[in-house]
Amino acid sequence: MKTNSIKHIAVFTSGGDSPGMNATLYAIAKASEANGIKLSGIRKGYEGVIDGDLVSLNSNELKNVTQKGGTILKTARSKRFMELEGRKKALQTLKTNNIDALIAIGGDGTFKGLLAFSEICDIPFIGIPGTIDNDISGTDYTLGFDSAVNTAIENIDKIRDTAESHNRVFIVEVMGRDSGYIAIHSGLMVGADAILIPESGKDFIYLLDKIKNYDSEDAFLVVVSEGDEIGAELVSSKIKEVNANVDLRITRLGHVQRGGNPSALDRMLGIRLGVAAVDALLQGRKNIMAGVLNNQLHFTPFEEVVKEHQVNKELHQLLELFGK
Ligand code: F6P
Repeated sequence: MKTNSIKHIAVFTSGGDSPGMNATLYAIAKASEANGIKLSGIRKGYEGVIDGDLVSLNSNELKNVTQKGGTILKTARSKRFMELEGRKKALQTLKTNNIDALIAIGGDGTFKGLLAFSEICDIPFIGIPGTIDNDISGTDYTLGFDSAVNTAIENIDKIRDTAESHNRVFIVEVMGRDSGYIAIHSGLMVGADAILIPESGKDFIYLLDKIKNYDSEDAFLVVVSEGDEIGAELVSSKIKEVNANVDLRITRLGHVQRGGNPSALDRMLGIRLGVAAVDALLQGRKNIMAGVLNNQLHFTPFEEVVKEHQVNKELHQLLELFGK
């Protein structure tokens, strides 16, 4: 049953930008217009929610940004919103601007903020998982993860060309914060000789075992997640300890993984989740995240979303098979 009490929705993007955020905004605009709802965008994440930095959004303007990476609404990591005072001010600002419902697109930190906000906020809101890290429970994939992995493999393939030419060892560090998803996926797809992720204790042992007997007759690719506690520098010095003859280089892919045109998968995920978020609000639902599990829309309460997202057993088995 649809509720007609929602006349004005506001949406914002928060935390690290991720490819697919703009496509999601387009979908939210389309679904809002189809239901006669006014849509405002809030600029600069929670900072804009506190300050009331609103712009009007419509699907006609947004259809031309679905292919763009980043977020046209800008984003920020807000210290003020972490304080109760900041959240109270945010609620007041939403009320002053006659916002009936809110949609937030962001990662782990955004959802922690939403959970805290739900304790004081009587305006319904829905979250959409947008982060390249894929570290959120309640969805198989987060917006931007697929694009980031594609960027990582494209770049590591290039590194392989030069690594093979010189018979060098390359340690490539990929993003992911505390999560090894980008490292596992990109590492497997480029045929890495070793993949190091924060969630595994054995991967480093496999690496040292392999590199001991490495004879510099080929390239040797190591993909390490930035969150792995050993880190690229220490991996490099340990490798040199067990095999002094290696010619080794370190490459950090860094923020290149955050930008670029969203992949087909991320655009489609954004379209699905954007529409799902508006539908959920119209059905009177609140304080949940719209995600996709087993390719079906799935809604998860914020308390579950912020729980640690584990790399699943199948991926651990793949890591073991390809790492040894
Ligand atoms: O959460 C996305 C992410 O790109 C992480 O992978 C990375 O650790 C972090 O953001 C970098 O944050 P910033 O852009 O603030 O340096």
